[in-house]
Amino acid sequence: MAAINSVTDLVREGDIAVITLNSPPVNALSSNVRDGLHDGFKAAIEDPDAKAIVLICDGRTFIAGADISEFGGASKGASLFDVQNLMENSPKPVIAAIHGTALGGGLEVALVAHYRVAVPSAKVGLPEVNLGLLPGAGGTQRLPRIVGAQKALEMMTSGSHVGAKAANAMGLVDEVVEEGKLREGAIAFAKRVLAENLPLKKVRDREVSADPQVFADFRKANARKFRGFKAPESNIQCIEAAVNLPFDEGLKVERQLFMELVTGAQSAAQRYVFFAERQANKIPDVGPEVETLPIKSVGVIGAGTMGGGISMNFLNAGIPVKIVEMKQEALDRGLGVIRKNYENTAKKGRLTQDDVEKRMAALSGSLELSDLADCDLIIEAVFENMEIKKDIFAKLDKIAKPGAILASNTSYLNVDEIASATSRPESVIGLHFFSPANVMRLLEIVRGDKTSKPVIATSMKLAKTIGKVGVLVGVCPGFVGNRMLSQRQQQAQALVAEGAMPWDVDRVLYDFGFPMGPFAMSDLAGLDIGWSAEKSSSSTIREVLCEMDRRGQKTGAGYYDYDENRNAKPSPVTEKIIQDFAAKAGTNPRKIEDDEILERTIFTMINEGAKILEEGKAIRASDIDIVWINGYGWPVYRGGPMHYADSIGLPKVLERLKHYQAQMGDAFKPAALLEKLAGEGKGFKDL
Ligand code: 3HC
Repeated sequence: MAAINSVTDLVREGDIAVITLNSPPVNALSSNVRDGLHDGFKAAIEDPDAKAIVLICDGRTFIAGADISEFGGASKGASLFDVQNLMENSPKPVIAAIHGTALGGGLEVALVAHYRVAVPSAKVGLPEVNLGLLPGAGGTQRLPRIVGAQKALEMMTSGSHVGAKAANAMGLVDEVVEEGKLREGAIAFAKRVLAENLPLKKVRDREVSADPQVFADFRKANARKFRGFKAPESNIQCIEAAVNLPFDEGLKVERQLFMELVTGAQSAAQRYVFFAERQANKIPDVGPEVETLPIKSVGVIGAGTMGGGISMNFLNAGIPVKIVEMKQEALDRGLGVIRKNYENTAKKGRLTQDDVEKRMAALSGSLELSDLADCDLIIEAVFENMEIKKDIFAKLDKIAKPGAILASNTSYLNVDEIASATSRPESVIGLHFFSPANVMRLLEIVRGDKTSKPVIATSMKLAKTIGKVGVLVGVCPGFVGNRMLSQRQQQAQALVAEGAMPWDVDRVLYDFGFPMGPFAMSDLAGLDIGWSAEKSSSSTIREVLCEMDRRGQKTGAGYYDYDENRNAKPSPVTEKIIQDFAAKAGTNPRKIEDDEILERTIFTMINEGAKILEEGKAIRASDIDIVWINGYGWPVYRGGPMHYADSIGLPKVLERLKHYQAQMGDAFKPAALLEKLAGEGKGFKDL
């Protein structure tokens, strides 16, 4: 065994040179790895007794890509292109042996090998688009030459991972070898290449062609999905270049567009989000030494929309669920909705009928709380009423087995008060799912004063198990997400009272990158949530709309008018109601500029985020960003509200808040933390 450097070894097995990379956690292409690969290939090529070269990785995965943490820094060591040139022009066959994931630069390394073998569990992909980038090491030119333009478009603009079997069918992988036997399989493959004198295949020499219509159709079909993002279009242009230009010319296009993206604000934000999401898993006082509790069965109280959606998460992960409702009819309805959701997914081909039945078989219903006695985790998902919740938790205290986690799905109530209804507040935690609970990725995990560390660690782990991003937050009204949202809502309402129309506010936020603005959102959710006909007194615009039976999309009208296809149109009726309110209040409606709408809705949220940090209700600013991206549709290419504030500069946010405070009062009073950071020339990232 010869060590090439601290992360690379070279050995010869007979006439096969084996280069092994071992750079935990994911063998990313850091300068050290590039140097190791470069020197390893050089040595193997120069070794007269080596006839073929296998590249394999130790640890959990093949190379998972460029080292994202190195972007933006000064480059040192061998470049990836140096490594690739050596490999592709090697006079001896090079075989990449893939396990885990060959992603981004990792796949681009594999694509300059003459052959690729993989174990069945391996996956390959070019996920750069998710970092606001494109594959910058020839991937945009090589992938289409193997899989064709259409598949390359799909893979590169979605960043999806393709399993070994499918990759084999596409020609991306030459042979799938037995699981656990990658090294032997790759060496055997190399020997066969030598024995059969197979050619040194270079992907760059292949041809690819496509009708220009393919690109036009693809752009059109995905316009909505790509809205606001720069990277998908750049990826598409590179594939066009692969089709229309010689390889080296295509590479130049790739380089130029890559440089534009990697130096741009969107990619900086998306790379930040990549690390922020992983950072959110780290709880300073709950380290890996804290033991987690086994969660083998879950009880859910409430079979409504929330309870049903929550249950589906666990069923999808293979964890049995028992749902408890008060009335048989409500229970049947709830279970029926879950079945219908699964059936619909099956109809779309995303689930087999067998899977539907398996999931439904793991679901049971009951009318008795006492049936939850053997559950490891019980989640209460009834409506937001403190007395009812306390009553349920007092009962659970008597029913649940010792050590069971008792969770509330409350979206703003005081978890400590709920916990006080039990004799075991250490077992109580908030698990705030976002609607639709089986779809939205965010899980706010609310730590009470007395919540135990194992309960926190278990909840964080559980979030991962069910495919969510768990963010630990503290107890305060609305926690992180809804607390900040309420600032935006207040400003949205105030702006309308002062002369903006709902569609003006919505347009500005939509253009900023949100999937929809607050008024369109209200129409979608239903204006009558929390509204009652008996108590309604025409005191707000929303009440008047509800009284007129304009309750949102479901009634064909709300703030907007809707046609039969649910397309929204600004409504003269709403406009009139707004004008009447203004007249009654004696306000003189004024023209409100888009900048003011944006600043008042977004900067007040940022200000609230600063207060949340001051009070220690979020561990770090990036956790707040993860909440907003995964729970509220904040555009990922703007990195979340706190990152956005840093990117435009805290002095600017501070100055505008002070400007509005002078005009409109203390709703805009800057948080002390914001003042302090701005004064010190720092950002939230420096906390
Ligand atoms: N660079 C630097 N660090 C990376 C990394 C990368 N490409 N990929 C993963 N890591 C780090 C993570 O930050 C994490 O660090 P931590 O333990 O300190 O938090 C650690 O590796 C483990 O990562 P995960 O927690 O994500 O582990 P999983 O097992 O859940 O997932 C993975 C593994 C599927 C490889 C996932 O990490 C992943 O998707 N990584 C990014 C892949 C990617 O985007 N590659 C393209 C990079 S850009 C590029 O290659 C440009 C090129 O075209 C020139």
